[in-house]
Amino acid sequence: MKKVLALVMVVVLALSVSALALADNITIGYAQVGHESDWRTANTQNYQDVFSTANGYDLTFVDADNDHAVQLEAVRSMIEADLDVIVIAPIQSSGWEVVLKEAQDAGIPVIIADREIDVDPSLYTAWVGTNTENEGITAGNWLAEYLDGAEANILVIEGSVGASAAIGRTNGFNSVVEANDNMKVIDSQSGDFTQAGGQEVMESFIKSYNGHFNVVVCQNDNEAYGAMDAMDAAGITYGVGGDVILISFDAVHDGLQYTLDGKINCDVECNPIQASTVEGVIKQILNGEAYETSTLVTDSAFCAPEKESSYAITMTQEILDGRAY
Ligand code: AHR
Repeated sequence: MKKVLALVMVVVLALSVSALALADNITIGYAQVGHESDWRTANTQNYQDVFSTANGYDLTFVDADNDHAVQLEAVRSMIEADLDVIVIAPIQSSGWEVVLKEAQDAGIPVIIADREIDVDPSLYTAWVGTNTENEGITAGNWLAEYLDGAEANILVIEGSVGASAAIGRTNGFNSVVEANDNMKVIDSQSGDFTQAGGQEVMESFIKSYNGHFNVVVCQNDNEAYGAMDAMDAAGITYGVGGDVILISFDAVHDGLQYTLDGKINCDVECNPIQASTVEGVIKQILNGEAYETSTLVTDSAFCAPEKESSYAITMTQEILDGRAY
């Protein structure tokens, strides 16, 4: 009997300790864009790993499936639930003023992560992300150097309409095109950052421009996989020694494998591993310490092992082996 009582007491104690631990956990909301790409999957996994219960967090994760209205509603429920901090990876850059004001009125710190938004920065607490305009400039500079004056007729498969990642990459790349007379963008359409979108846009580009383009720029790796499928089906060769120079963004594992294999000529990185940086800022905010209001996650660029570049690192098996996502 004594043994049973002791066991019951141990269980009760353990339960109250874990309840106490949960009650003490920091409550974080993450309003995620969706699950459109391998990059996004890696970013989600990174948040779930860093903001785990074992690390002292209670994470409310919402996948908005690339729907701005759903994402706004998710943020509103997080405000309603009075979470300690809300992190938003904004689908689109506009339309954020009202909900951010609501969070501010409720006294909840908001961190904008990954992408940027077009609002007065006083409406949110901090930003953590990558410089997508620089990514576009790097892609343009890599191409200009690679072409060495040769003519380029370029097709661009952009990311999602209204997303700062698409706007920044487009603006950055176009600024280099404008400075080089040998480079011309002949068409630019959104592939929505998905493989299916990339394939569909490439199929329609092939119908309209077959034989008249020699560069394809995809604003993420999944779009590039789709574009490759479309070009394979049409018998168009790409990559090292191909008819078409293929440029991509993200540099996730499979994108880098294709770069190492010479199928993608240049893959400009966008680093999805951002959660620890966000966590650092959150800790400073909650501890009442000074914090960075804007933190840049740094990126590199990688090119196929064909020609050295001043703008990209030549891909190796070692780099690929070190890429966990
Ligand atoms: O905002 C980052 C971009 O969004 C990544 O390039 C893309 O893969 C994702 O969908």
